[in-house]
Amino acid sequence: MRKLVAAGNWKMNTDLKSAAALAEALAQKVQQESSIEVVLCPPFPYLTTVKEKISGSSIKLGAQNCYHEAEGAFTGETSVGMLQDTGCDWVILGHSERRHVMGETDEDINKKVVAALDKGLGVILCVGELLEERQADKTNDVLETQMKGGLQGISAEGLKNVIIAYEPVWAIGTGVTATTEEAESAHDFLRKWLSTNYNADAAESMQILYGGSVKPDNAADLMSQPNVDGALVGGASLKADSFGGIIDAAIQVSKG
Ligand code: PGA
Repeated sequence: MRKLVAAGNWKMNTDLKSAAALAEALAQKVQQESSIEVVLCPPFPYLTTVKEKISGSSIKLGAQNCYHEAEGAFTGETSVGMLQDTGCDWVILGHSERRHVMGETDEDINKKVVAALDKGLGVILCVGELLEERQADKTNDVLETQMKGGLQGISAEGLKNVIIAYEPVWAIGTGVTATTEEAESAHDFLRKWLSTNYNADAAESMQILYGGSVKPDNAADLMSQPNVDGALVGGASLKADSFGGIIDAAIQVSKG
């Protein structure tokens, strides 16, 4: 049985005070709840503060990016080891904003995936198609290219520390959510891809999250789909009430 995950991607939002308050409120809410996994991914400068606020709860810390080199003259970059020093268990890689705003390629993303997994940092690997790609019926081709590119050289063993997030780009921050059928069909495709390219066990145990305008009122429907194992949440993760509602939905779905 795959555990449902509620992951909050705060992007470049919050300030020190609001990040601390949000983490504190969520730690209060989640406490030692273990039926689901909750991950908070604040901006780099607030990782340490958020880590302090969630200590004593079951919430895990994640970062939103990293660099593949371990150290050196890479101004402005953050290594995997540095993230682990702040208490991160996870890093989001391949987010559509990194791909389409910062211009990261599958090759760049793959180097980061390899670096993170080498050091034992879990990876939330995001994949997803643009609107024009969906309209041109290219969704599965895009997903295949991004999975193949991002996971190049990763063994079935390495995959145990990876979560996939299917995030259709047209649904991110737009208020337009994929229908449960659209989400389930993409997730089913991804799981079959894992089964073909790795093995049935790896595919069966992989958590595949949906991301793109998830809110408290659509979270339970999405997470009830057989191949949807939780949510990667942007906008609605910035308020304790709305992310709390998504956490409640995950707990409710996981308890059947
Ligand atoms: P959203 O963002 O929930 O604001 O659509 C999701 C994401 O980018 O991970």
